[in-house]
Amino acid sequence: MEPLFSLLFLLLLPRPSWLYSLHNCSTDATDSRKINCSEHKLSRIPSDIPKSAKYLSVYHNNIQWIRQSDFSGLSELQTLKLGRNQISHIEDAAFSHLSSLTELYLDRNRLANLTDHMFTGLSNLTVLGLRSNKINHISELAFAPLTKLLEIVLWDNLLSSMSDIVNIVLLCPLLKSLDLTQNPLTSIESEQFPFPLNITFLDLSMTPLSRFSLHSDVFPHLQTLDLSNIHNDLQWDVSDKAFLKSLRTLDLGLTGFTNETYQSIFQSLDSPKDLNLRGVGRLDEGLLDWACGIQTLEILDLSFNNILVLKDSLLLPCSNLTELVLSVNILRDLGPSSLQMLTRLSWLNLGGTLLKGVFRNMTRLTELDLQSESVTEMLLYEGASRGRSQLQKFFNLPSLQTLRIIVSKGVCSAFTKGLLQGLDDLKVLSWRGCFQGDPDSKALHHTPQLFRPLTVLQTLDLSSNQLKSVDFLSEADLTQLQTLILKSNDLSVINDRVFEALPSLRYLDLSDNTFACNCSNADFIDWVIRNTQVYVNRAYQYKCESPESHQGALLLEFDYRWCWESVGLFCFLCSSALVLLTLFLTFLHHFLRFHLLYGFYLLRAFLYHRQQRGCAEIYDAFVSYNVHDEEWVYRELLPELEGRQGWKLCLHHRDFEPGDSTAPFMIRLTFNHSSVLKH
Ligand SMILES: *[C@@H]1O[C@H](CO)[C@@H](O)[C@H](O)[C@H]1NC(C)=O
Ligand SMILES: *[C@@H]1O[C@H](CO)[C@@H](O)[C@H](O)[C@H]1NC(C)=O
Ligand SMILES: *[C@@H]1O[C@H](CO)[C@@H](O)[C@H](O)[C@H]1NC(C)=O
Ligand SMILES: *[C@@H]1O[C@H](CO)[C@@H](O)[C@H](O)[C@H]1NC(C)=O
Ligand SMILES: *[C@@H]1O[C@H](CO)[C@@H](O)[C@H](O)[C@H]1NC(C)=O
Ligand SMILES: *[C@@H]1O[C@H](CO)[C@@H](O)[C@H](O)[C@H]1NC(C)=O
Ligand SMILES: *[C@@H]1O[C@H](CO)[C@@H](O)[C@H](O)[C@H]1NC(C)=O
Ligand SMILES: *[C@@H]1O[C@H](CO)[C@@H](O)[C@H](O)[C@H]1NC(C)=O
Ligand SMILES: *[C@@H]1O[C@H](CO)[C@@H](O)[C@H](O)[C@H]1NC(C)=O
Repeated sequence: MEPLFSLLFLLLLPRPSWLYSLHNCSTDATDSRKINCSEHKLSRIPSDIPKSAKYLSVYHNNIQWIRQSDFSGLSELQTLKLGRNQISHIEDAAFSHLSSLTELYLDRNRLANLTDHMFTGLSNLTVLGLRSNKINHISELAFAPLTKLLEIVLWDNLLSSMSDIVNIVLLCPLLKSLDLTQNPLTSIESEQFPFPLNITFLDLSMTPLSRFSLHSDVFPHLQTLDLSNIHNDLQWDVSDKAFLKSLRTLDLGLTGFTNETYQSIFQSLDSPKDLNLRGVGRLDEGLLDWACGIQTLEILDLSFNNILVLKDSLLLPCSNLTELVLSVNILRDLGPSSLQMLTRLSWLNLGGTLLKGVFRNMTRLTELDLQSESVTEMLLYEGASRGRSQLQKFFNLPSLQTLRIIVSKGVCSAFTKGLLQGLDDLKVLSWRGCFQGDPDSKALHHTPQLFRPLTVLQTLDLSSNQLKSVDFLSEADLTQLQTLILKSNDLSVINDRVFEALPSLRYLDLSDNTFACNCSNADFIDWVIRNTQVYVNRAYQYKCESPESHQGALLLEFDYRWCWESVGLFCFLCSSALVLLTLFLTFLHHFLRFHLLYGFYLLRAFLYHRQQRGCAEIYDAFVSYNVHDEEWVYRELLPELEGRQGWKLCLHHRDFEPGDSTAPFMIRLTFNHSSVLKH
């Protein structure tokens, strides 16, 4: 009785609140304390949010007003997302119940005025997102409760006065990251700050900043300064290098400053490592000289600069660079030694550029990004200058570990099988847009051989090609390959045997292929489901492209077992029949051997006599007799039976031809008749 009672008790017990189905929200499948009320056209915060909720998203609804009672009781909430509503008013102390809250996002609303009691109670808040509101005023004490704030995003607001922002940083002593992107701020001056700030990240991009003036150490810990996309000229007034001595990363991308401004900026920096000059446009020799004059510089981004000619000596002062981004330039006439002195370079990005003959002496280069046109041009250049036999070691980069090539259609024919020779250390290869169909027969000759030298390759990305088969991989000796990415190809049938040749494989991605949901993929589907070694990314989302009856269905839902069942059934029937037949014959042999033999002789006789038309057919009776009775037979029996009664008798001496082997046999068979007749 006791278990039954417990069961009844359990059934009658009121269920915990989080088990109730929510009216306008959903709970996360794996974490019931994660509540999602996004995109339900809500005009109020739902009233049935479980008190145990830790994460609540009310993103993208029509909420205009946040009331004091909206979040009462949600004392365990840690993350609250209220972005993309029309919130213009937040009642005083509306968040005061949320003492555990660490992240609050109010992005894309209509807040204009941050008032004194708006954030009351948020004593544990570390991240505050206020991007894309209309904030133009921050009350003096608005941020007073946020004593633990580390990061604030004020991107795209209407803050024009630094005094507002000073209020934030004064009240939030732990603040590290201040994002003021796209605000109408015009100046940063040390006089605006009463004491040094602990900020490490300051983003002033897309502002109309015209004055950056520091005459005391306001930002002693600043590491990253983003001044990108400032189009007017900037009055850079930093009297002493020491004020920016901790700066490591400076983004000047897409700025439109004058020569003098750039020069004074570079001269006031102490030891930056990472400089971004993408799309600066008027990138002349002077600018690069000043930039590379910073001896500590390791990372330089010169992308989107329309660089046409890169003279041999241009990058000479930058010889300490380890990473160089030259992507999206028109480097037609790159001198043969332009990049050769960059002997410390470990990453070179030439994506979207046109250039030739650069890969000498870069013995430390570990990572290279290329665009196909470059490779083709270089191949032609190398072929012309060194003779085709030299192509055997095209990439003379012994340290290269990562190579990414993006190929536009039509230039694949320039690639030869020797292209990857010498890349003995290559661990990651990403190659898009060249392999077509079954690559052994097209585009690249002898594809397995193309990968032969790459014995330590660990990652191979052949996405966005037009591969129809992966069979070539089984002959390519890729025994160390761990990651294989074949997204966006034309693969319909996968031969799962290929994976036997890739013993180290752990990760496979076949997204966006044109799978066939027929029995040709039965073994592959079974492998995907059963194998425990390889993680097949997004496997449950792979879709069938053919046959038409299955188009759009999920590959793993294809019932492949019947493929095996029909074959299996056939085999079962055949083998069963064989077994039964064997049993039957054994049985016959054991118990009916003599009957069989008898039957066999009968059969033989039957066949023989059909053929020979022997005695039994022509005669009525065969007469067997002793020689001593011969006289009686001829004198009395014959005249009586043949003469008077009209029988036709078969007599041994009279009717048999000599030498007939069957004669004695016939005699024995008919002996009984003659004996009967005789008596
Ligand atoms: C929340 O729900 C919306 C649709 O109601 C969905 O688009 C979104 O992906 C969900 N977010 C999470 C984190 O589950
Ligand atoms: C759910 O949304 C509807 C329509 O917005 C509203 O009338 C209803 O009160 C909401 N339910 C709860 C529990 O918030
Ligand atoms: C703030 O968080 C800490 C742990 O991170 C916790 O101990 C404390 O109780 C929280 N404060 C409030 C007011 O909930
Ligand atoms: C902001 O709100 C405070 C308090 O409600 C009010 O005193 C002040 O006038 C408002 N400021 C602006 C610019 O609306
Ligand atoms: C600034 O940070 C340093 C350590 O990074 C710390 O010692 C100092 O107290 C902080 N200053 C303030 C005002 O919090
Ligand atoms: C910048 O300086 C270089 C020489 O240092 C000069 O050739 C170029 O014309 C200058 N550009 C402008 C816009 O002043
Ligand atoms: C490269 O850096 C070293 C110190 O790490 C320095 O001595 C040398 O002058 C630098 N070279 C150039 C060309 O800046
Ligand atoms: C490149 O290295 C070769 C020897 O490997 C050397 O002869 C040549 O001078 C070097 N070129 C440059 C520009 O350093
Ligand atoms: C499965 O489909 C593929 C592609 O449409 C086709 O090549 C293959 O012959 C089909 N296999 C079977 C068993 O129908």
